[in-house]
Amino acid sequence: MTLTIKRPDDWHLHLRDGEMLAGVLPETARDFGRAIVMPNLVPPVVTSADAAAYRARIMAALPEGADFQPLMTLYLTEATNAGDVAAAHASGLVTAVKLYPAGATTNSDSGVRDFDNVQGVLEKMAEIGLPLCVHGEVTDPSVDIFDREAVFIDRVLDPLRRRIPDLKVVMEHITTADGVGYVLSQDNVGATITTHHLIINRNDLLVGGIHPHYYCLPIAKREEHRRALVEAATGGDTRFFLGTDSAPHTDPNKESACGCAGVFSATNTMACLAHVFEEANALERLEGFASLHGPAFYGLEPSAAMLTLTRHADPVTYPAKIETGAGPVTVFDPGFPLHWTTS
Ligand code: DOR
Ligand code: ZN
Repeated sequence: MTLTIKRPDDWHLHLRDGEMLAGVLPETARDFGRAIVMPNLVPPVVTSADAAAYRARIMAALPEGADFQPLMTLYLTEATNAGDVAAAHASGLVTAVKLYPAGATTNSDSGVRDFDNVQGVLEKMAEIGLPLCVHGEVTDPSVDIFDREAVFIDRVLDPLRRRIPDLKVVMEHITTADGVGYVLSQDNVGATITTHHLIINRNDLLVGGIHPHYYCLPIAKREEHRRALVEAATGGDTRFFLGTDSAPHTDPNKESACGCAGVFSATNTMACLAHVFEEANALERLEGFASLHGPAFYGLEPSAAMLTLTRHADPVTYPAKIETGAGPVTVFDPGFPLHWTTS
């Protein structure tokens, strides 16, 4: 059995830099036509000059003949200049701006502490139609880690939306029924959903021993939340689209007393998604989720190229890890046999 869809895009991806970039980029470029590239390098991609230089490094690392276009983002800081952002958008260099609350996740120290200090930039973005991608977790140490997304919606996102209702917002990597519900209640709001959050819940992370390769932020939640995400992703609503949040860290950095947050799923994402959509009797909606809804939200055309998924009766194997110049990176293990390949 085969399924041919427009070539998918990844609306949330970490490519890193240097040897890690060279190692992981081919994994995404194999199946995906475009990706929104996260700016949380060290130091972060803050200015249009940073984004242009990073884009050039990505293009230089692409394998010969790859059909892949990086869509660049700027990391919003309290010092971000509205004019620089507007110029980067007008030139076509930048597709979105990323908001990390300071301290929310990997390399987010330069993120926003006081939202009053970014009001001018956000107003400019609303005016020019440049989307804001939001890492939606509060960082207040008194808020339980499993509640941080829901509390962010109430304390930060909803007030921000009321102040600037015309700003297009992408709630990145939603992990809760609260996130799904908020998207459905709003105009101008979309959400990315990762491959792994459609598959694992917090038991997978913590029962029978701690599974560091399932640790990411936002952290996987209860099973009822995973089900809400599957319903949203497979339900055909155009406000939900794929953002893998594939986030490589080397095995020594994951398998450590203080392991890094991030799941690397670029290698087998389409096979995992085909499984999830097949189980939900929604294979005909996979194209919408992976290839159509994202471009529509961003005001872009869907890819002209196609990707064919083939279902095999016997399980197929994907590598358990990939070797990069920075070290080995473990590939997401969905915990069930995969039957799909791509070409
Ligand atoms: O798990 C995560 N890893 N969540 C993020 O928000 C950042 C990412 C990373 O950069 O490793
Ligand atoms: Zn991310």
